Amino acid sequence: MISAGNVDEALQFAYALGIERLDAMLLLAHRMGQSRVWLLAHGDHSLSAAERDAFGADCRQRLDGVPVAYLLGEREFRGLTLRVTPEVLVPRPETEGLVDWALEWLNAGPLGGLKAPRVLDLGTGSGAVALAVAKGCPRARVTATEHSAAALSVARDNAERLGIDVDWRLGDWWQAVGAARFDLALANPPYVAASDPHLAALSHEPAQALVSGPEGLDDLRRIIGQARAHADGWLIVEHGWNQAPSVAGMMLDAGAREIQTRADLAGHPRITGGRWAQ
Ligand SMILES: C[S@@+](CC[C@H](N)C(=O)[O-])C[C@H]1O[C@@H](n2cnc3c(N)ncnc32)[C@H](O)[C@@H]1O
Repeated sequence: MISAGNVDEALQFAYALGIERLDAMLLLAHRMGQSRVWLLAHGDHSLSAAERDAFGADCRQRLDGVPVAYLLGEREFRGLTLRVTPEVLVPRPETEGLVDWALEWLNAGPLGGLKAPRVLDLGTGSGAVALAVAKGCPRARVTATEHSAAALSVARDNAERLGIDVDWRLGDWWQAVGAARFDLALANPPYVAASDPHLAALSHEPAQALVSGPEGLDDLRRIIGQARAHADGWLIVEHGWNQAPSVAGMMLDAGAREIQTRADLAGHPRITGGRWAQ
């Protein structure tokens, strides 16, 4: 139970429990309806009983491994504030690399000449990729699929709040779009191996967003294996740090050309794209 009376004491309480400084400040600022800068300037401001209890409960959940984004109810992704709930994966910074690549090619690269490029986001979760691409390339016609109805409703809600137009489809990977074809398809599918020890630290996020068979490759295999029927151009996928050779091999077997891999900010090969000729 938190005994802190003011802002500084509440933060010290959280640090002493082992909560990281940034997390503690974000949670307390959220509970007090203030900014982190405000907290720094008002260390002796008293907390109300309700603020103190709510912050204490947040600290307990954080110690239990609940992501800060779920406690705040939101996460920034490429300048968009997205609502996130435990039904959706918390969007990761490395996925911004997938969006960067897409926008580079839509705005100036091989797809730059298309008037209204058809773009698909497979497994949209909170809508992060679809919404960031639609925002960054307003002439694109963006469709997004998701097999979790709960996740899709979070994505729709984000789109409405942000005023961004996306065609949302409920269903299994490409099946959700029928026979439609796309100039650019993007996917950040589940790619963690079922036995990966890191999963223990991710237990608050939906398993269906993370785990994909014994090697983490089942969903990538399905998406890439069916790409020929829907891709009139490029498919770019995010994957695990050690999966690039397998993913490139799957793309080659499925008829893709010009296969290339990009690294994330830490230098790990994490995104691979290939082109299917029209
Ligand atoms: C790794 S998460 C990515 C979410 C979001 N695109 C992002 O980058 O934050 C994978 C998403 O794929 C969805 N998914 C899993 N299996 C699927 C399937 N068979 N068909 C469609 N979506 C699926 C999950 O529900 C989850 O939202």
